[in-house]
Amino acid sequence: MTSTPLPIDLAVIGGSGLYKFPGLENTTRHRVDTPYGPASGDVVIGDFAGKRVAFLARHGESHTLPPHRVNYRANLWALHSLGTRRVIGVNAVGGIRSDMGPRVIVVPDQLIDYTHGRYTSFCDVDGAEVKHIDFSEPYTESLRQRLLAAASAAGVAVIAGGCYGATQGPRLETRAEIARMKRDGCDLVGMTGMPEASLARELELEYACLALVANFAAGCGDEAEISIEEIFAHLAAATAEVPRILAAMPES
Ligand code: HPA
Repeated sequence: MTSTPLPIDLAVIGGSGLYKFPGLENTTRHRVDTPYGPASGDVVIGDFAGKRVAFLARHGESHTLPPHRVNYRANLWALHSLGTRRVIGVNAVGGIRSDMGPRVIVVPDQLIDYTHGRYTSFCDVDGAEVKHIDFSEPYTESLRQRLLAAASAAGVAVIAGGCYGATQGPRLETRAEIARMKRDGCDLVGMTGMPEASLARELELEYACLALVANFAAGCGDEAEISIEEIFAHLAAATAEVPRILAAMPES
């Protein structure tokens, strides 16, 4: 099914641990053909807390796509072509800053891109118009503020601001890499924040990130090693807060 009779208020791209959007009702599934190949899966559109919400699982509904193989262009294109104008990217991250430990939720305001070999632009095809977007502020401030207001209304603690460093993955980083990122000014590290944010900007979508801290990044916590089981346990706890925050999103 591809037609969407009602306008979409908000799209959510779910990261690790968020493969279905809890509480989404009266859903329809949309498989979109894009010029960039297949999206990560069907876009599921439904009603949630009085809003029309579109949901897409970034890694696929069974988590089969690693961060460097996600078709970010197709995902953004699919959401845009269904009428989305506003996207929240939910991203699992490691915390670098000492107050950004496991289960903390952050709405970052800056990012640094360390990824490579990904398709980073819709201009990347023959004959496409070359667009130089302004990316001084990588996230849409008004959407960030709505997210922060929603978290406050829902009584969910979030940290406002922080710099997201996007790494290639799928491996976690070395201590030396994280030490360098810290010197660069990164507060968080994740594998999926780019090129999603800049592709959203190319399509003139509003875009903000809800970063869920799953672990302290390498060398930042007490543990000698990072446990994947603990990552997913912390992520499950933080993910449970996401629908509460989004349910409280004020109208634009
Ligand atoms: N590094 C990169 N991405 C992540 C991490 C991390 O430590 N934890 C969750 N996503």
